[in-house]
Amino acid sequence: MSDEEEDTSIESEDGEEHIKQMTKISSHSFGQTSEGFTIKIIENIEEEYGMFVWPCSVALAEYVWQQRLRFSGVTVVELGAGTSLPGLVAAKLGSDVTLTDNSTRPEVLENMERMRELNHLNCTVLGLTWGDWAAPIFNLKPKIVLGADVLYDTKDFDDLFATVTFLLQSSPGSVFITSYHNRSGHHLIEYMMVKWSLKCTKLLDAFSFMPSCKASSISGNIQLAEITLDDPIT
Ligand SMILES: C[S@@+](CC[C@H](N)C(=O)[O-])C[C@H]1O[C@@H](n2cnc3c(N)ncnc32)[C@H](O)[C@@H]1O
Repeated sequence: MSDEEEDTSIESEDGEEHIKQMTKISSHSFGQTSEGFTIKIIENIEEEYGMFVWPCSVALAEYVWQQRLRFSGVTVVELGAGTSLPGLVAAKLGSDVTLTDNSTRPEVLENMERMRELNHLNCTVLGLTWGDWAAPIFNLKPKIVLGADVLYDTKDFDDLFATVTFLLQSSPGSVFITSYHNRSGHHLIEYMMVKWSLKCTKLLDAFSFMPSCKASSISGNIQLAEITLDDPIT
């Protein structure tokens, strides 16, 4: 047994490996053919935000897989990544990925490091709090910014949109792809886009592109939006 197996696989229950009490590894598969793959996620069901896979993350990861031609060789930043399923899929597809989450939550960032190793992926982990202008954000220059279920607390909307707008301005032609529960109120998101000079270029109901086997395991009114600068810098 390798060190990794000793660290992770203690028991198996309903197809999920358990690494210690309240912590489990879930497997997420993409594609049916030989080009498909599985990503393993370490979840802690005792923790709150950021330590388990939210439905929006399942939807965004599936979208990344379906849009895989866009992800080869591009720079990707995932904001509020938590368990990071979309970013890890992008890394598997050949993107240069930086996984980020609130810099005040070291347990979430440490979990990202463990998942990077578990999946043998080469991505960067960075503490990035929305609305904070720490030095590393200036060098990110992503072509694609990902965010799953980051639009859930209206008090954070301005900070999140400030960071998204900065990242889009730093990289001409870039796009923010986000999945969110419509409980947050689409009108408020539209208002924020106008306020931050952004526009929505694509809006999908997540259930319109999810395979039925995945759609049946998630609930809620999940939408996916692609957002760019309204007046892009060329
Ligand atoms: C609802 S969870 C979604 C996690 C993951 N994207 C998913 O869908 O499974 C929201 C995430 O945003 C992060 N977050 C919340 N406020 C933040 C902030 N001000 N700056 C950066 N990240 C933040 C949380 O730590 C958490 O990981």
